[in-house]
Amino acid sequence: MKSVLLLDNVGVVYRGAAHNKEALRGLSLEISGGEIFGFLGPNGAGKTTTIKAILNLLFPDQGRILLFGEPNDSVRARRRLGYMPELANYYWYLTPRELLLMYAGFFGMPKKSALKKIEALCERVGLAAEADVLMKFFSKGMMQKVSLAQALINDPDILVLDEPTSGLDPIARINVRDIINEVKSQGKTVFFSSHELSEVELVCDRVGILHEGRLIKSETTAAILHEKGQQRSLETYFTDLIMKKNP
Ligand SMILES: Nc1ncnc2c1ncn2[C@@H]1O[C@H](COP(=O)(O)OP(=O)(O)OP(=O)(O)O)[C@@H](O)[C@H]1O
Ligand SMILES: [Mg+2]
Repeated sequence: MKSVLLLDNVGVVYRGAAHNKEALRGLSLEISGGEIFGFLGPNGAGKTTTIKAILNLLFPDQGRILLFGEPNDSVRARRRLGYMPELANYYWYLTPRELLLMYAGFFGMPKKSALKKIEALCERVGLAAEADVLMKFFSKGMMQKVSLAQALINDPDILVLDEPTSGLDPIARINVRDIINEVKSQGKTVFFSSHELSEVELVCDRVGILHEGRLIKSETTAAILHEKGQQRSLETYFTDLIMKKNP
């Protein structure tokens, strides 16, 4: 399978007046086309930092990141990426339809086809009834749905999601899982962080576990769930692994 995303020895240090924080150290990871990769780790492990580095929203102190074989600041490569941030902070005085039209414009989509696409996306993420409601009236979960629709607007070849199911009700959560599977069935790649281990277990081909800025595991989900012939949950595996690191 062709490499879609490559992180090579990535290091990030946040510099502060009082002290520096090394958020990532020597992070190397390769994601293949068509893979669904779950990025796990305790709070503060460095998942969002990694995702921001992939997006070129922060610049690593060390290492390099390639998207579709090109440096991650390449516009051509970035046009093929969809991103759902951890905290959706969109213009509250716009409706989802208006916001999505703005994002479609960033990708140069003609208005007529953009409006058609937005109609379908609002339906898909469960926002059909609220497409023309100002977002200032939205709950957290409703904003998450807008955010997911925004990430899908350009039919991305890689979808990067930072905790996509956080704040969603169980039905909406299943819907996100279905959307991720649909994206995969189109041969596309999904990289997402999550604390919802039961979801990750169901949907991911492979998981990576980050701890204090270092990747301590990268393994297929099947191998983790059936290691040494024993059946266990990802939650058990994850908690055992992290507890061993933090006795
Ligand atoms: N802008 C910043 N300035 C300084 N330190 C930061 C900054 N952003 C994050 N950090 C620190 O970097 C570390 C990694 O944070 P990050 O947000 O990447 O974690 P995370 O794995 O996404 O956690 P969570 O599961 O809570 O979302 C933490 O120790 C955090 O305090
Ligand atoms: Mg985070």
